[in-house]
Amino acid sequence: TFPKQVKIVEVGARDGLQNEKNIVPTPTKIKLIDMLSEAGLPVIEATSFVSPKWVPQMADNAEVLKGIQKFPGINYPVLTPNIKGFQAAVAAGAKEVSIFGAASEQFTKKNTNCSIDESLQRSDEILRAARAAGIPVRGYVSCVLGCPYEGKISPAKVAEITKKMYSMGCYEISLGDTIGVGTPGIMKDMLSAVMYEVPVAALAVHCHDTYGQALANTLMALQMGVSVVDASVAGLGGCPYAQGASGNLATEDLVYMLSGLGIHTGVNLQKLLEAGAFICQALNRKTCSKVAQATCKL
Ligand code: HMG
Ligand code: MG
Repeated sequence: TFPKQVKIVEVGARDGLQNEKNIVPTPTKIKLIDMLSEAGLPVIEATSFVSPKWVPQMADNAEVLKGIQKFPGINYPVLTPNIKGFQAAVAAGAKEVSIFGAASEQFTKKNTNCSIDESLQRSDEILRAARAAGIPVRGYVSCVLGCPYEGKISPAKVAEITKKMYSMGCYEISLGDTIGVGTPGIMKDMLSAVMYEVPVAALAVHCHDTYGQALANTLMALQMGVSVVDASVAGLGGCPYAQGASGNLATEDLVYMLSGLGIHTGVNLQKLLEAGAFICQALNRKTCSKVAQATCKL
């Protein structure tokens, strides 16, 4: 059985754009986010407060966060890797932040220049500051279905890290198939292990589509009771520290499937398609969304 309602977390403006080599003008990012708000996405990850030396594309984080229209009822979380990023995010008006870790030692080192233990300590520092400031914190665990450096990752390891981040105070943990290598059977095994430790209501999935499995993997997660799904408009995305990984599950394709299943999302597909067309034109690239490419209509 499927959930009656699914909350979509739109990550295109962050996960989608962080991987773009050419710097996208700040007004373009702001317009994209405003169009996504118009489309009715309930959560729109706006940017990340990471080191501009590491990810130059996100250097305009404060301008983006300050420049977007804040629609009532929509959350605009931002990624923060350390307390410095958290403080900068709050100063720029962030009302929610996301922290990120991984189930792989080597990926953690490449992505955040520290060990898993150090990463959890940084997370703990942010969570304490956030609690004092009344700011909800979402967590990410990367490499849950495989790692570009370590290969296979055991479900037990994913469960262990997820449990730690949940116990430390994240209200929701998004399980990331960072390089999009998983298949539904592996998703099922991983989720079974994680659901044993953390309530399914606190779990989200974040599937990159490198091997074309993102929609299938997401469907498996929905069948297992997950009701929060990350997706990226036009299927944009990747991670600068996971070479060759393609974008996330396209939000348009997710919305189309969910509406076909009679699952409520509150998203207006037509407006979402317009947002996708806008950003693809701005980036001068073709959409990765199959729904956006489709020309035959029912
Ligand atoms: P480091 O070099 O070890 O940090 O990087 P440091 O503390 O030594 O600082 C180096 C310099 O950066 C210093 O500047 C700091 O002030 C500055 P300098 O003194 O040389 O002038 N700095 C900062 N500036 C602005 N904001 C900050 C900040 N922190 C330090 N927050 C660090 C460590 C964590 C900062 C770095 O590794 C980093 O920024 N990593 C982020 C990488 C990233 O953004 N990856 C992509 C997001 S994760 C993802 O995509 C996966 C996900 O989608 C889920 C999935 O798909 O699985 C979420
Ligand atoms: Mg990602």
